Amino acid sequence: GQARKLQAILESAVDAIITIDGRGTITTVNPAAARLFDYPQDAFIGQNVHFLMPEPYHSAHDGYIANYRRTGAAKIIGIGREVTGRRRDGSLFPMHLAVSEFEMDGRVHFTGIIHDLSAQKATEQALRQAQ
Ligand code: HEM
Repeated sequence: GQARKLQAILESAVDAIITIDGRGTITTVNPAAARLFDYPQDAFIGQNVHFLMPEPYHSAHDGYIANYRRTGAAKIIGIGREVTGRRRDGSLFPMHLAVSEFEMDGRVHFTGIIHDLSAQKATEQALRQAQ
């Protein structure tokens, strides 16, 4: 059925896929997200998504979501942005973030798709240094 198909897509995706509720609390996470941030999958659930980012984003992120919900002015939804993620060991890495909004049971939720840019950035730097 559709539920099993969706499950298979999430399980096999290369990019990290995280959903949050309207307050930023993580509701689902795929295996690629667990690998990327180096936490077990069940360690994400119920946490505020801001635990995956460094300052100043960490302190500001609840406000970003609240601003968007109040004003409707999207800074990332439908646009995308390169930002910095934070792994379990505290190390930082560049990532592309795409965010979309959906409604379920009359409540707003958001999906974040995260593409790790660290290998690409390292290659670019090596190429620059070789010149
Ligand atoms: C907005 C950073 C992950 C959902 C933003 C903004 C930044 C940001 C900089 C825009 C602030 C502004 O200019 O007003 C980050 C960082 C992340 C991260 C560094 C690293 C892990 C996520 C994830 C989701 C998410 C995984 C969803 C599952 C949102 C939402 C908004 C937002 C809903 C407000 C809507 C918008 O501005 O378009 N975030 N974010 N973020 N983020 Fe995140």
